[in-house]
Amino acid sequence: MDAAIIEVGPRDGLQNEKQQLNTQIKVNLINRLADAGLLKIEAGAFVSPKAVPQMKGATEILEQVLLSNPQCHYPVLVPNMKGFEAAQAAGAREIAVFTAASNSFTKANINATIDESIERFKPVIQAALKNNIKVRGYVSCIAHCPYEGFTQPQQVIDVCKTLVDAGCYQISLGDTTGRGTSKHIKLLLQELLPIIPADLLAGHFHDTYGQAIANISTALEMGVCSFDSSIAGLGGCPYAPGASGNVATEDLVYLLQSYGYCNEINLTKLAETGRWISETLNRPYTAKAGLATLAACS
Ligand code: HMG
Ligand code: MG
Repeated sequence: MDAAIIEVGPRDGLQNEKQQLNTQIKVNLINRLADAGLLKIEAGAFVSPKAVPQMKGATEILEQVLLSNPQCHYPVLVPNMKGFEAAQAAGAREIAVFTAASNSFTKANINATIDESIERFKPVIQAALKNNIKVRGYVSCIAHCPYEGFTQPQQVIDVCKTLVDAGCYQISLGDTTGRGTSKHIKLLLQELLPIIPADLLAGHFHDTYGQAIANISTALEMGVCSFDSSIAGLGGCPYAPGASGNVATEDLVYLLQSYGYCNEINLTKLAETGRWISETLNRPYTAKAGLATLAACS
């Protein structure tokens, strides 16, 4: 069995950036990530442009990348039926619905309570499955909520189970604020795994407190083999103030390759892409494994 990486840079990575990139740069980014060997790349979000203007252009982006690399999977975020219809029209083969283990966060993020969000997603999931479109589910705030503090495992378990029962093939466990540590992840998985098997789970760890790689190692040792990451460690959520980027894809690839996983991914090409997108965003390039790889090449 191999481990899987879901690259979320073009969505999570860019949604919180002050600078809005044009469609062509986003398409180039996705194509470079595919060229480095990544097979699953979240291409954008069909959300309200008033809520997240950075995600404008999702239709054109999805149409173009599907033509460039049809072998890749390009999930897109969908918050409601309007987003689903637009994603389907653009050719989406996979969508992701997103809720949270905290009512306050869900309310701030998508203007719904957890229960309302599930009711909103049920017809979306049914319409997707009827059209052979796969559905992934995100549960944010699995360790901590920016408005309610630390999360109890039972809050996470209830939402995960509801999403699996509704038809999601995988649940991505989002440590939105990056305040979770190995201790939180272990406690959560000890309670969650008897109910939802590891092959239906993915880890989505923001690295605000530098805990993401440790959290991934813990989840990996407990049997979770799918992880979300973001090129150059970009990212954050407009509704999680102070939260920084996801684990850098470069660091995740370095870790997973040491276990013999993901050997088809070219770390040098990833690091070059990470440096390029950081320069494009006028940010310093900080992904540690990326910097070390580039230094070793020079
Ligand atoms: P609302 O205001 O309740 O929606 O927002 P509404 O239905 O009342 O519509 C308001 C306006 O938005 C209308 O336009 C709609 O047409 C439009 P108006 O008549 O005012 O001109 N609208 C849309 N436009 C385009 N696409 C759509 C859409 N839906 C409505 N799909 C809504 C509710 C969910 C729409 C809004 O809150 C929203 O778009 N939120 C998105 C928030 C978001 O993208 N957050 C970041 C992603 S989640 C995340 O980062 C966490 C994650 O990474 C995991 C982790 O780290 O934990 C996944
Ligand atoms: Mg996120």
